This record gives sequence, structure tokens and C-alpha cells, in this order.
Amino acid sequence: MNGAPPVERTAVRVWDPLVRIGHWSLVACIAAAWFTSEGYGVWHDRIGYAALAIVCLRVVWGFAGPHYARFKEFVRSPAATLDYARRMATASEPRHLGHNPLGGWMIVLLLVVIALVGLSGWLYTTDRYWGVEWVGELHEALADALLVLIALHVGGVALASYRHRENLVAAMLHGRKRPQGADEG
Ligand code: HEM
Ligand code: HEM
Repeated sequence: MNGAPPVERTAVRVWDPLVRIGHWSLVACIAAAWFTSEGYGVWHDRIGYAALAIVCLRVVWGFAGPHYARFKEFVRSPAATLDYARRMATASEPRHLGHNPLGGWMIVLLLVVIALVGLSGWLYTTDRYWGVEWVGELHEALADALLVLIALHVGGVALASYRHRENLVAAMLHGRKRPQGADEG
């Protein structure tokens, strides 16, 4: 028999179950938080707190989890990130088995903004800040900013999938990716 071996046998395990389940649960929570935000009720709070809990778990995992889940694996220096962005502009950026430098910073930003949306929402429910207009407005503005970041994140995923001819969404589902070629970063 010749030809390439089946992908299943050669693929590398990159995303562990906690990263994958955490990701899709977070997506579900943010979507549900939006659907329950009009005519606000107790479910909106509960779902928002669930999103906060996932973010906390992911932060701990970023220090204690396996190799590809760790922040130190995918949070690069500003110089390395800028270099990656420049190479992206000329369609010559290297493929990364873990998150690429721009994707890595986007992940940090998403986690921070989700935490701020959740905390501002909680603040608005406290006796001291209940009904205080700027707190409600801050919560809504942060939720809007989150939407913009999500659009950029999904756009980045689509672009990287296209550039490197791989289905990153499927990889986030089953956790496997094709191994790194000799010419890849
Ligand atoms: C509420 C919306 C979303 C949020 C908050 C979000 C957040 C995140 C986070 C935090 C990660 C890092 C995963 C980790 O290391 O734990 C990530 C990665 C990823 N997300 Fe999302 N995501 C969202 C929506 C989506 C959607 C709709 C898709 C699919 C189209 C998607 C596809 C991916 C993929 C493929 C990765 C891995 C990227 C890579 O290969 O480097 N995300 N996302
Ligand atoms: C993390 C995910 C969350 C998202 C995406 C989100 C999103 C939103 C949005 C878009 C609104 C505005 C609804 C409108 O148009 O009137 C809203 C309102 C509100 N949210 Fe959240 N929220 C989240 C978490 C939370 C949490 C954890 C709490 C509190 C425990 C909370 C409490 C509130 C309250 C009290 C309002 C009403 C604010 C007002 O009337 O101005 N939210 N949320």
C-alpha cells in the first residue's frame, strides 16, 4: 500500500477535552446571555455567571493545563505578534499547531472582556449600584464590544483555515490537527 496514511493515524492531539468543551459551552452561554438580555430576568444572571465560571476555569487551565492550553505556549511578545501580523499582510505567515500569535492575543482579550461583561452585570445587581445608569450602560457597551471581538475572532479562524487549508472548527471539535510540516512555525 502506498500514498499518505489516514489523517486519523497521523494527526496530533492539540486541544484537550476541557479546552473543547469549555469553548463550545462558552459560545452557548454567550449566545444564551444575549437571548435572555431583552426583558432581563433571573436566567440572564445565571447564564452570565456560568460564562464567568468557564472563564475562571480556563484561566486556571492556562497555567495548569497541558502544553497547548497554556498561556505561555500561545501568548507571544508584542514584537513576535507584530511580525506575524506583517507576514499575514503578505500571506506568508507560518502555520501554528497551537494558537497563532494574533489568535492568542484575541483569546486573552475575549476572556478579559467576558469577565468584565459578567462583573459589570453583577455590579448592576448589587444594592449599591442597582439602577445606577452608567453601570447598566457600561454592561451593555462591554457586551457590544464583545460582539465585535467575536466577529473578528470568527473572521480570524476562517482566514487561518483558508490560508493553511485546514478545518480549525473541526479541530476545535475533535481536538486533532495535522502534524507540523518542516516549513511551518
Ligand atoms: C461567543 C463566541 C465565542 C467565544 C467567546 C470564543 C472564544 C474562544 C476562546 C477563548 C478560544 C481559545 C480556546 C482555548 O484555548 O481555550 C477560542 C478558540 C477557537 N474558536 Fe472560538 N469563540 C467564540 C465563537 C466561535 C465560533 C462561532 C467559532 C466557529 C466558527 C469558533 C471557533 C474557534 C476555533 C476554531 C478556535 C481555535 C483557534 C485556533 O485554532 O487557534 N469560536 N475561541
Ligand atoms: C457574560 C455574559 C453576558 C452578556 C453577553 C450580557 C449581555 C447583556 C446585554 C446585551 C444586555 C442589554 C439588554 C438590553 O438591550 O436591554 C444586558 C442587560 C443586563 N444584564 Fe447582562 N450580560 C451578561 C452577563 C450578566 C451577568 C453575569 C449579570 C448579573 C449577574 C447580568 C445582568 C444584567 C442586568 C441587570 C441587565 C439589565 C441592565 C439594564 O437594564 O440596563 N448580565 N446584558
